[in-house]
Order: sequence, then structure tokens, then C-alpha cells
Amino acid sequence: MIYRNAVLSDIPAIAELQKKYHIATISEKDKPDGFVTTLFTEEQFKELIEKENGITVAFDNKKIVAYAMAASWEYWAKWPLFQHMIKDLKNTEYKGNILSTINSYQYGPICIDKDYRGTEVLLKVFDFSRRQMSQKYPILITFINQINPRSYYAHTKKLGLDVIKKFEFNNNTYYELGCETSF
Ligand SMILES: CC(C)(COP(=O)(O)OP(=O)(O)OC[C@H]1O[C@@H](n2cnc3c(N)ncnc32)[C@H](O)[C@@H]1OP(=O)(O)O)[C@@H](O)C(=O)NCCC(=O)NCCS
Repeated sequence: MIYRNAVLSDIPAIAELQKKYHIATISEKDKPDGFVTTLFTEEQFKELIEKENGITVAFDNKKIVAYAMAASWEYWAKWPLFQHMIKDLKNTEYKGNILSTINSYQYGPICIDKDYRGTEVLLKVFDFSRRQMSQKYPILITFINQINPRSYYAHTKKLGLDVIKKFEFNNNTYYELGCETSF
């Protein structure tokens, strides 16, 4: 398995994985094992790669089997849910720090193809992304829909993220989670 930053030619494969597991297009059979919420256009993937170097991929046998996104709040500001989170950063404290767009960034979505779940891919993709972002930011922030227990357990029990708060947006309840990037 190779873990690396995505390049522009990876976009079609990333888009395919997104379609398979996005809440709007996922099969009913796959939904209980988690879904991604943020929907990227090809142009938004391109910007994420070019401006933020913000996509980590796991590559097995010439196939992309997982991805994790990470970027500055400035990048995420085009989505209403993130506008809500950005506005609330100043009201949010983590380990004695009031959050800001300077001391934190947003990680996620992460998406692992079904055949590779329950393996080391989760930790490896997460860590590759976290380590890279730790050069710029001390705190990682993410959100998980309350109706995605697999992701909640993976992030709290396997990856050790802390739940910071719960918030409501668009008739959904989300957990906001975080961790320090250097550990
Ligand atoms: C979320 C995701 C990244 C987690 O990676 P993963 O490799 O599946 O994670 P793991 O299997 O190592 O860990 C998940 C844990 O949750 C548990 N779990 C699964 N469904 C559960 C449920 N309904 N309730 C409680 N725990 C559950 C699993 O049993 C496992 O714990 P265990 O190993 O102790 O048995 C992956 O499932 C995925 O890509 N899902 C689709 C997209 C997605 O949901 N992305 C996250 C968006 S926030």
C-alpha cells in the first residue's frame, strides 16, 4: 500500500469513490457503515490539490482505495456548514485554546473503500494527513453526523479524537471533534 498526496490525475478515481459513499448517492446497503457529507466538484478537488496539497490517498495495486481531505478554513468557507463552524470557532475551546482559523484546520471527509475497512488503512491515511498539517496547525478539527456511528467509533476509539461539542445544522446533529496534531 502506498500513502501519498493526490495529484490531478487521481481526481476521476477520487470522484468515483466519493460517488459510491456520498450520502446523496450511496446504496441503502452501504449506508449503515458510514457516508460522506461534503460534496466536491472536480474543480473543488483541483483547488484542494493545487492550493492546499490537501488530499491524502491510499493506493493499492494501481487503485485508489481511500482518501482523506484536510485544508485551511479559508478553503472550506464556500460550504454553508463550514461557514457555521468558522463563525463558532471563537466560542469553542479545546485543551485551553480558543479555536481560530490560525490555530486549527478542518480534516475530513475520510473515505475508505469497503474491502479495506477494519484494517490499518484508517490509521495510516489519517496519520499521513495529520503529520503533514502539523507543520502549519497545532489543532485538527472535524465533524461527524450523529447518525454515522461507525465513523464516530473509528475517530474516538481508534484514532483518539476528543468530542468538543455537539451542534445542529440543517436539521442534523453533528459532533465536533478535535485532537492535537503533534503526538
Ligand atoms: C468511517 C471510516 C473511515 C472508518 O474506517 P474503518 O476502517 O471502517 O474503521 P474501523 O473498522 O477500524 O473502526 C470502526 C469501528 O466502529 C465499529 N462500528 C461499526 N459500525 C458501528 C455501529 N453502528 N455502532 C457502533 N460501532 C460500530 C466497528 O465495529 C469498528 O470497531 P471494532 O474494530 O472495535 O469492531 C470508514 O468506515 C468509511 O470510509 N466509511 C464510509 C465513509 C465515512 O463514513 N466517512 C466518515 C465521514 S465523517
